[in-house]
Amino acid sequence: MNLRQEIDALEREIKRFLDSCDTLEALDQLRINFLGKKGKITLLTKRLGSLAKEERPEAGKAINRLKAWATEALETRKEAIKTALRERQLQKEWVDVTLPGRRFAIGREHPITLVSREITGIFTGMGFEVAEGPEVELDYYNFEALNIPKDHPARDMQDTFYVSDNVVLRTHTSPVQVRTMEKQRPPVRIITLGAVYRCDSDVTHTPMFHQVEGLLVDRNITMGDLKGVLTRFVHLMFGKDIGVRFRPSFFPFTEPSAEVDIQCVICKGKGCRVCGQTGWLEILGCGMVDPAVYGFVGYDPEIYSGFAWGLGVERVAMLKYGINDLRSFFENDIRFLSQF
Ligand code: PHE
Repeated sequence: MNLRQEIDALEREIKRFLDSCDTLEALDQLRINFLGKKGKITLLTKRLGSLAKEERPEAGKAINRLKAWATEALETRKEAIKTALRERQLQKEWVDVTLPGRRFAIGREHPITLVSREITGIFTGMGFEVAEGPEVELDYYNFEALNIPKDHPARDMQDTFYVSDNVVLRTHTSPVQVRTMEKQRPPVRIITLGAVYRCDSDVTHTPMFHQVEGLLVDRNITMGDLKGVLTRFVHLMFGKDIGVRFRPSFFPFTEPSAEVDIQCVICKGKGCRVCGQTGWLEILGCGMVDPAVYGFVGYDPEIYSGFAWGLGVERVAMLKYGINDLRSFFENDIRFLSQF
């Protein structure tokens, strides 16, 4: 094969490799093989010396042309590979900006939160302020100062969780009454809201539930004020047409005491399973603050009088939303909670 033919053969060889070359690494290897220090084109140049003098210029030009052509062909191929790589990268990173965003499941407020807020709203609307107290409470505030001494039979009414001899989980929100009166002179108009604990668990009782308690103490407060405030509450909570009755009852810290019934929200008073055919549902306990309680906080019962009440938030929520199992509030089943 003379030089001429070798040049043509090299050109064909390069062309063939170029076509199958699709990575930058392979292309660089190709450059080394043909244009590198020991590359085939370079080696060809070295053989020029062995040619006859008159053949050399022609052959030299031909090699230079091959070299120039090969350099440019490799460069062109390099650009093409780079473009292809960029294309592929863009394909991979492509984002459809018109796709709708991912939906987040948004939580709902618990029915107990909703009802608590509604109850609070009704009473603050009448001028009551919100007071707070601890859930881990001294026996003194939970019982003693509410006229329930250590051996009093009324302690049996509330199944107490004892933390120690003198410390309990509060069984009602009434201790906040005593704490508030200790700090403040009349007029006192407070409500307090929170968790209370009783060692009891069945279809209608859970060991933790929520109460809203109210207290109003001033001069010349009578049972009439109590009836007015609580009747108004029932009407705002359950509707203007709902019947209300006050029934005599007993609490150690109120005298006289009463329980408030509302007309059954299910049967409207006709009698059904929910109200045990009586047409009435009990919703809260109340009474005129017992003068003995004033003794513990240093109020003069000759000057001041007042009333208090306490209600179960779960009970109100059950009646309001027609829920028949108290435990639903504590199971946190999203299908239940998302209905409110
Ligand atoms: N503390 C009472 C209870 O939990 C309710 C109540 C509060 C009754 C205030 C009268 C006055 O049973």
